[in-house]
Amino acid sequence: MKKILFAASEAVPFIKTGGLADVAGTLPKNFDKEKYDVRVMLPKYMCMKEQWKEKLAYHSHFYMDLGWRTQYVGVLETKYDGITFYFIDNEYYFNGFTPYGDMYADIEKFAFFSKAVLSALPVINFRPDIIHCHDWQTGLVPIFLDNFRYSNEYYRGIKTIMTIHNLKFQGTWDTKRVRDITGLPQYYFAPDKLEAYKDANYLKGGIVYADRITTVSNSYAEEIKMPFYGEKLDGLMRARSNCLSGIVNGIDYEDFNPETDQYIEKNYNVESFRKEKVKNKAALQRQLNLEEDPKKMMIGIVSRLTDQKGFDLVAYIMDELCQDAVQIVVLGTGEERYENMFRHFEWKYQGKVSANIFYSEELSHRVYASCDAFLMPSLFEPCGLSQLMSLRYGTVPIVRETGGLKDTVEAYNEYERTGTGFSFVNYNAHEMLGTIRYAERIYYDKKRDWNKIVERGMEMDFSWKNSAKQYEELYDDM
Ligand code: ADP
Ligand code: GLC
Repeated sequence: MKKILFAASEAVPFIKTGGLADVAGTLPKNFDKEKYDVRVMLPKYMCMKEQWKEKLAYHSHFYMDLGWRTQYVGVLETKYDGITFYFIDNEYYFNGFTPYGDMYADIEKFAFFSKAVLSALPVINFRPDIIHCHDWQTGLVPIFLDNFRYSNEYYRGIKTIMTIHNLKFQGTWDTKRVRDITGLPQYYFAPDKLEAYKDANYLKGGIVYADRITTVSNSYAEEIKMPFYGEKLDGLMRARSNCLSGIVNGIDYEDFNPETDQYIEKNYNVESFRKEKVKNKAALQRQLNLEEDPKKMMIGIVSRLTDQKGFDLVAYIMDELCQDAVQIVVLGTGEERYENMFRHFEWKYQGKVSANIFYSEELSHRVYASCDAFLMPSLFEPCGLSQLMSLRYGTVPIVRETGGLKDTVEAYNEYERTGTGFSFVNYNAHEMLGTIRYAERIYYDKKRDWNKIVERGMEMDFSWKNSAKQYEELYDDM
């Protein structure tokens, strides 16, 4: 039996700010349970819902040095869907209204978490063969592990994987402070180790010290070796390319299933969508005060409202797009300028645009189920889960050909009658608008072809099955 520990800063259903939570929360249960004992370790955030906090049982606690500080480390645990989740407790570090946001605090918070993950292993009596780290928040785990090995036999032989969900966020701060916080020897603060461009860089440290590096799609694994996507670490990615691979994400096919989804008006599947899916659209039009016309093409967006997702392109053509026979439904939060941009267009095009600037699991399912098309024109996209959710619900993705979007959405070819969505190459607002308008034409004028696109999308398999197999192979290989 191979023992694997996921170390992550978020996981569904406990705490979520983005796709990382979906991955860390739902991938573990998809491994072959006879061969792999996969457990997950998370911070115990005060901002977790009561409903989940109540379920955590006290396991033990101890005190840990972090630089010159000595800190309390509580360990709690719970089982969910057959998987053991451990929670690292410290009310000083994990007390915010959101899991993160303020870099100054986050830098110390995740140094604490990363060291606590390792220090807790003997306490919970689970010595993993592999620690599978996710994103910059756990970048210091491989470094602390390297440091621990010298003085403590227990840690020798434990391997690490660093999975990059987003290279843009690296966790950097000046070396002096990070030295002070972590108490790590000067040795690590060098340009071939934890340091990048004179600062300490958690993700870089993780990438240098991990035994293997993965990212969440093949295309992104290639892209980050180039300056445009490399976020100034492309040289390092090239240098480590023999240890770097891409494994595309899946989604939970039970949580996201139009046949059984409790949140949506009318359940449907690949046989019945032609008749039933539209009832969801009608219900959503009523709910959101949009013009009630089930024939109108509805385009959905469910997203963090940030630069990454291509909203400057959307802002640029919104007026033009709103001249067309379309409705636009947005669900998302993020940068104020994009939140206000969508609020503005809702006000300007009442009955046509609906801006829902909040977070709602329920509404997200209703959008995936109700819309005809889903827009995701990302500047970069390590994998993207929203387009997979759309495909699952028969909602045709319109995407830019980058990262995971390129790997999971096949462009419609009207001559060969293939493809599951629409895509464009260049980061250009009118190229995007042209693609949306092409989709409109197929939707209105070639309904049979449109429905075939929907059908092919729904027949794709982006459950975790295939990806979990690839992670198993990687674990075996190490
Ligand atoms: P990222 O991780 O970059 O934000 P992904 O596409 O991988 O992008 O994952 C985003 C996840 O967050 C999806 O599960 C999506 O449905 C969800 N999501 C984003 N914004 C909201 C929101 N406002 N309400 C509900 N779910 C949201
Ligand atoms: C990141 C990426 C997204 C990916 C998710 C889960 O948030 O932005 O593309 O799907 O992580 O891996």
